[in-house]
Amino acid sequence: MPHQPPHMSPEEFRRHGHAAIDWIADYWASLDDLPVRSQAAPGDVRRLLPASAPKAGEPFDALLADLDRVVVPGLTHWQHPRFFAYFPANSSPAAILGDLISSGIGAQGMIWATSPAVTEVEQAVLDWFAEALGLPADFRSDGPGGGVIQDTASTATFSALLAALHRASGGEARRHGLGDAGWRVYGSSQAHSSLVKAAMMAGLGEDAVRSIAVDPETQAIDLAALEAAVEADVEQGLTPVMVHLAAGSTSTGAMDDLVGAGRIARAHGAWVHVDAAWAGVAAVCPEHRAHLAGVESADSFVTNPHKWLLTTFDCSTFWVRDRAALTGALSILPEYLRNAATESGEVVDYRDWHPQLGRRFRAIKLWAVLRTYGLEGLREHVRSGVALAALVADLVRADDRFELVTEPSLSLVVFRLRSGDEQTMAAMEAVNASGEAYLSHTTVEGRAAIRLAVGSWRTTRADVERTWRALQAAADG
Ligand SMILES: Cc1ncc(COP(=O)(O)O)c(C=O)c1O
Repeated sequence: MPHQPPHMSPEEFRRHGHAAIDWIADYWASLDDLPVRSQAAPGDVRRLLPASAPKAGEPFDALLADLDRVVVPGLTHWQHPRFFAYFPANSSPAAILGDLISSGIGAQGMIWATSPAVTEVEQAVLDWFAEALGLPADFRSDGPGGGVIQDTASTATFSALLAALHRASGGEARRHGLGDAGWRVYGSSQAHSSLVKAAMMAGLGEDAVRSIAVDPETQAIDLAALEAAVEADVEQGLTPVMVHLAAGSTSTGAMDDLVGAGRIARAHGAWVHVDAAWAGVAAVCPEHRAHLAGVESADSFVTNPHKWLLTTFDCSTFWVRDRAALTGALSILPEYLRNAATESGEVVDYRDWHPQLGRRFRAIKLWAVLRTYGLEGLREHVRSGVALAALVADLVRADDRFELVTEPSLSLVVFRLRSGDEQTMAAMEAVNASGEAYLSHTTVEGRAAIRLAVGSWRTTRADVERTWRALQAAADG
């Protein structure tokens, strides 16, 4: 008889599990003293790892010890209170425990029948969350639409495009491919790169994406330019299939006019996809919903609780007004997945809502976040990020070496040194290299700018003030 592999006993699992949670709590406690951006050089981490896997199993403690020795120096600390780069990728204690439980359950939720709870908790949680964000009732699962958790907003945008092609082609796209309709997709010059990637993956090619000019002040899509581009394409016999609108662009947090752009899209039968990957979750606060005005008539909407809203990556919440377009594009039923529940038509099989088949129980972590923080707790979190960003903007205005590039958008502030691009980039790099804080950059209308995105769950006013002092010192040269 072969030997049993050396699985941990239940007692060992408990002991190591407690040690792993202790490690995380200690890691968080140590962050304040660590450089935010990793100072590792290429190859530094790899050099500390043996060339091959161990032949005989080692105690789990050995791996925990290597986290501090090998891994931590090679980390940029996204949960650091002075992480202000990109957008936050917040974890939180509740989300981590939810995620851990999901791993422990280890169920695949590809179809309802493979674990009904995976599907039904997800449906309920997304209905709750749609309501919490003030999204239209049509997006709820008890109407013609519904929500699903995708891994990322990029996948959501890709799925939206496939649904749009399905609808516009009357189902031809899934059977015969794209044909010669000359499909065209529209987004502003500030649209996230996942739009072009979606067009590439869908087989349309990057040239199918029309990059529409933005208003130089607001960086929001120029409606006249959008209308002109759509009409010029139609005149040439091309077919508008989807308009992608940003409710919070990556570079500056710009808000496209969903009402005006939606009207133009609908007049030409195009699908309206709203990408609110970062800013959408702010709508848990009724006073931060203005940027979603017009979402009522969108065909699909995505926002990422895994950015600002405390839900450990990955958790991208995606809703469609008409789920038939999405499942029409993506459903496929091999013999080995046939089952009575699917045939009954009474259940949702989420494998038809995204490209992949297998799916983990991601709803648990969002459920844990919604239940333990409650909507009030989540609102406090969002409001604190917005208030700290307002403080940053005041600090920028009060120092005449600096200037705001755009008006602050929720918890994102974009600014620069008046003295020029080189000085702006040098000041940011000096702060990042010092490890004191971590900021990222962009270009706006061809000029360099620093992005400071507040919203990490451990950031306080003192962290913002300390970061500002570091920037001022860097500006002094
Ligand atoms: C507006 C916007 N859309 C999409 C994305 C892509 O998000 P994901 O990493 O979930 O694909 C981002 C990432 O920052 C974003 O800011």
